[in-house]
Amino acid sequence: MIETAQAFGVDIGGSGIKAAPVNLEKGEFAEPRLKILTPEVSTPEAVAAIVRQQLEHFEVPETAPVGIAFPAPIKPGRPLDFMANLDQSWIGVDVTAVFSEACGRPVVVVNDADAAGLAEQQYGAAQGQNGLVIATTLGTGIGTALIYNGVLIPNSELGHIELPKGKGDAEKYAASSVREREDLGYKKWAKRLTKYYGLMEKYFNPDLFVVGGGVSRQSDKFLPYIDIKTPIVPAKLRNEAGIVGAAYFASTKQ
Ligand code: BGC
Repeated sequence: MIETAQAFGVDIGGSGIKAAPVNLEKGEFAEPRLKILTPEVSTPEAVAAIVRQQLEHFEVPETAPVGIAFPAPIKPGRPLDFMANLDQSWIGVDVTAVFSEACGRPVVVVNDADAAGLAEQQYGAAQGQNGLVIATTLGTGIGTALIYNGVLIPNSELGHIELPKGKGDAEKYAASSVREREDLGYKKWAKRLTKYYGLMEKYFNPDLFVVGGGVSRQSDKFLPYIDIKTPIVPAKLRNEAGIVGAAYFASTKQ
């Protein structure tokens, strides 16, 4: 059950759909999260049905803000035009409308990396940081959030920048899923991450990089080996940032 000062957050990923009520004062889960595996064929209908199931599981009241972190650039009211890691049938779909209809209430949708970046800025590793913060999530793909003097510049897609020397799309070379698939050791992976973050550093000159995603739990195994000049720190909310950020974002829109 949800109390005031709480909102509900959902984080839709390539492997799992995770949800929890969030305590907005503390920026943490108010109850243990519920994770359901992402359906193999991750169509809008299949994914939206799981989100509905999660709302029912937590008995979320109709008045509670509901935020959904989604792995694609989100422009409310506009059809989706790019999808990297869920079923391509999402293209052309009004994501906010699909979830609102399935959930029987208005919901707020935000890019998953933007949600994580907002959570880090509000409650975590980027709290009080001035200048440019680039928050990144390393998971199935690479997500990025640009935050300048505390303000989010939404829908950056810097996980897809082209790496030089024919290495192509950055997330296909350096995401956490690539490390697992190619069975790379952490130090070897850190060399790839150095190429990625080095390029981002060259083009954006940020003041801080924050590294999130499930693998940030293991940050001591790879962060010290990323050889760049900009300070780079692990996310404080780790894998919870997407849920917390989505809930926070929804609460600011109510
Ligand atoms: C998507 C981004 C998303 C990131 C992390 C990328 O493939 O294009 O929108 O934030 O994956 O899920």
